[in-house]
Amino acid sequence: MKFIVVGIGGVGMAHVCAIKRMGFEVLALVDLDEGILEKAKSKWINIWETFKEEVPVQKNCIYQTSLSGLPITPNDIIIIATPPTTHFSLMKEALRTKAGKILVEKPISTEMLCMSNPRLFVSAEWIYHSKLKSIDKISSLRMCYPKIPNGWDIPLELDFCPHFFSILISKGYDLKYISKAKAEFGFRYFCSHRAGSTKLSKVTFSGSRFGENGLFVNGRKLNWEEDLFDKQLISLQQGKMVSFDEMLYWENELKAEL
Ligand SMILES: NC(=O)c1ccc[n+]([C@@H]2O[C@H](COP(=O)([O-])OP(=O)(O)OC[C@H]3O[C@@H](n4cnc5c(N)ncnc54)[C@H](O)[C@@H]3O)[C@@H](O)[C@H]2O)c1
Repeated sequence: MKFIVVGIGGVGMAHVCAIKRMGFEVLALVDLDEGILEKAKSKWINIWETFKEEVPVQKNCIYQTSLSGLPITPNDIIIIATPPTTHFSLMKEALRTKAGKILVEKPISTEMLCMSNPRLFVSAEWIYHSKLKSIDKISSLRMCYPKIPNGWDIPLELDFCPHFFSILISKGYDLKYISKAKAEFGFRYFCSHRAGSTKLSKVTFSGSRFGENGLFVNGRKLNWEEDLFDKQLISLQQGKMVSFDEMLYWENELKAEL
């Protein structure tokens, strides 16, 4: 089993390091930016959030700007870690290869209405956070982000939706529950941070300054210090990952709100 990582920015390299930590081979690194490919030839480093680690560069790795022509087999896994607006076309391209499984970074897409494919999994690995084990029933979820980054290519709400679902699903809430959660926790006011809004809910999203990055569940902060990507790879191998197509329901709702 070998991995092909498409998009080797912050998160792509976090995947690469997890792949190597877990003892797997990287078949190819794909990125549109040739400068990034050139840098990757001499250094494989995960600069993302709190991990900050380096793994030895694998000598036989292929570097190229697209998936075309790669010797991909049904044992191989493609990971798509490019910006959200590129996911849909790259997923289609990946599905046309022989890869046995495809992991796409969240959100699954900004344009897709429905996808049900046993080869396609969506990454939203908060589901694997160990602190969640000590949390029983979820009564509140809150996302805090120190600032909204410039040049964000999709609404921040959409970007973090899958993480909310990941956490809810980790506690056994299914789509039915999420609809219920909407009524109970006020998902309806997911965008309540918008200027002029006075509605507050237990499930809130904030773009204001709160200090450190974090996602709070029942007031408890979760951060990225966990080896979430490793745990995700194990789950991916077993084909047991939860798919977050459900977010498309919210995507439509959010589009109407924004
Ligand atoms: N699972 C998580 O917890 C988590 C956390 C943060 C970000 N993400 C997701 O990861 C993805 C990537 O985020 P990032 O912060 O690493 O972005 P980034 O901008 O650091 O890296 C993206 C890389 O993709 C490359 N790229 C762009 N279009 C391409 C294309 N068509 N083909 C090949 N390469 C292309 C860019 O050159 C860049 O190197 C996003 O979907 C984001 O939502 C997930």
